Amino acid sequence: MKTELLSCNDDLSGSIERAAALIRLGEVVAIPTETVYGLGADGLNPSATGKIYTAKGRPSDNPLILHISDRAQLEMIAETNHPMLEALMSAFWPGSLTLVLPKKEVVPPTSTGGLDTVAVRMPNHKIALEIIRKAGVPIAAPSANTSGKPSPTNAQHVAEDLTGRIAAIVNAGPCTIGVESTVLDLTQEKPAILRPGAVTRDQIESVIGALGSATADISKHSPGTRYRHYCPNAEVIIINEPCDFDTAVLEMKKVAWIGSHPPQGAKKVFKLTTAEDYAREIFNALRICDSEGIEIIVVEEISDAGLGAAVMDRLRRAAGKS
Ligand code: TXA
Ligand code: MG
Repeated sequence: MKTELLSCNDDLSGSIERAAALIRLGEVVAIPTETVYGLGADGLNPSATGKIYTAKGRPSDNPLILHISDRAQLEMIAETNHPMLEALMSAFWPGSLTLVLPKKEVVPPTSTGGLDTVAVRMPNHKIALEIIRKAGVPIAAPSANTSGKPSPTNAQHVAEDLTGRIAAIVNAGPCTIGVESTVLDLTQEKPAILRPGAVTRDQIESVIGALGSATADISKHSPGTRYRHYCPNAEVIIINEPCDFDTAVLEMKKVAWIGSHPPQGAKKVFKLTTAEDYAREIFNALRICDSEGIEIIVVEEISDAGLGAAVMDRLRRAAGKS
């Protein structure tokens, strides 16, 4: 299949129209969001969402997030009587918080991995919202990478993984946040975070009070957490202190360094300090390391506070440590 590249510089409204038309026709289109690029298709059309799973090589029991542009779409797909829902929506939507709610009949089980719940978010991205509005349906969209690879934070990343496998890619430049949304389960007795993400625990707790902890059977509630994720070809090593690293390795292997204290002799350096910098750059850095044949990626750990929780979650998975 030929993959159309839809630019948002020359012909923004034409690109939005085309993306929406392809989605209405049941095709798969990569769309920008503020977190990462998503692989979008009509969330209510099983044959369209089936193409997402095929293009990504994604296990079919890993459910999708449905992206909406307005309140009416939420009412159509989910039960909305949760007592904390209004407060969460007004604090965080449009934005990077995904809410898991009981699903309505109209949502096919193929979009939810057979679960009777549905994950919903309203992205904080003008072009994404416009595409959803024009498509007129909730858009199911996982991250637009080959399953298991680092998530895509620009259109080039999507093209690397999916050219020839999807109908189009909408290029709106790099994502501003760079890690995925926070997934909050509202179907348990106490709301619980299933996946840490761009909205922090503190931000959520400041609106609805203390959260529960995700249950031990988290993989039942959020099957996505079961699979290996974010893995570059290189080995990823997380270090607590720069001095924990044996610099002799620099002589033997092609080493890349991510963090604020790179040693002499690293083949590639990504100088990052704050959690926001790490979030924005980390997936890009992992991909660049692969394209340059790096063998070992050393990452300086950052604090798990705030956005650091999402960053460290992704890094531990990339290192195969969770
Ligand atoms: O920022 C994001 O969330 C991006 C952009 C494109 O919106 N999307 C994204 O989708 O990261 P994906 O498919 O890569 O991750 C979705 C996560 C998975 O861990 C999945 O298991 C979980 O959400 N999830 C989806 N539906 C669920 C449900 N009904 N119950 C529990 N977890 C669910
Ligand atoms: Mg993903």
